[in-house]
Amino acid sequence: MRRGLFLTLEGLDGSGKTTQINRLAAWLKKRGHSALVTRQPGGTETGDRIRGLVLDSRSTNLAPMAEMALMFADRAQAIAEVIQPALEAGKIVLCDRFTDSTEAYQGGGRELGSATVLELHRLICSNLQPDLTLLLLPGLEASLHRARRRNQRTAELSGPDEGRFEAEQEAFYGRVWRKYREIAVREPDRVVLIEGDLSIDEVHEQIVEAVAERLAGLATGTYA
Ligand code: TMP
Repeated sequence: MRRGLFLTLEGLDGSGKTTQINRLAAWLKKRGHSALVTRQPGGTETGDRIRGLVLDSRSTNLAPMAEMALMFADRAQAIAEVIQPALEAGKIVLCDRFTDSTEAYQGGGRELGSATVLELHRLICSNLQPDLTLLLLPGLEASLHRARRRNQRTAELSGPDEGRFEAEQEAFYGRVWRKYREIAVREPDRVVLIEGDLSIDEVHEQIVEAVAERLAGLATGTYA
C-alpha cells in the first residue's frame, strides 16, 4: 500500500501552531481527507506521561541529555504506536512538533548540537522524515511575548503545569530561533518557512498553499 503523507508543524512556544494545525485539519476534512492530528511530546498514553514529566516546572535540575532522551523516548513510542501505522494505512498525519523541535530546543537551546540530535534520530527513529514541515517563525520578540502571556494564563487556570520551557531566558529562545532558521536554510525542499508577524488568516493561507502543492504533486495517491 502507498505510504501516507507526514506533515509536521514547528515553531517557538506561542507561534500559533496549535491554532494552525486545527485549521489545517478542518481544511483537509472539507476536501475529503481525514487527517490524524497528534503532538510531541504526547500523543500516546506513555507520551502524555513523559510530557507531564518533562514540561512540569517542578522537574528541576533535569540534565539536558536526560531531557533529550525523554523527547526521543516519547517520539519512538509515537512512531511505533501512532505515526507509522497511520502512514502505512495511507493516512495524512499532522504532527505538532517532531525532531526539528529537538534539534532547535536541545541542539540549539541547550547547546547539545545538531550532530547528536540527528544521529539519535537516525538510530531511534529510523531517520523517518516528514514529507513537509511548516515552520512558523514570527519575530523573536512577538514569540516571546505570546509565550509569556500563554504561560501566565495556564498558571491562572490551575491546569497541568507546562511552564518549564516557557520560564527559560531570552538567550535560550534566541538560540532556538536561530537553530530553526538554520534548519530551514539547510533543508529548503522539506521546510516551508513562514516568517514575519502575520495574521492567523495569512499564516493559514500560506500553509494551505504549501499543502495543496504537495497534495497536487501526489494526486495519484489516495488518503484514508
Ligand atoms: P508545545 O507546548 O508546543 O506542545 O511544546 C512543548 C514544549 O516542549 C515546547 O516548549 C518545546 C519543548 N520541546 C522540546 O524542547 N524538544 C522536543 O523535542 C519537543 C517535541 C518539544
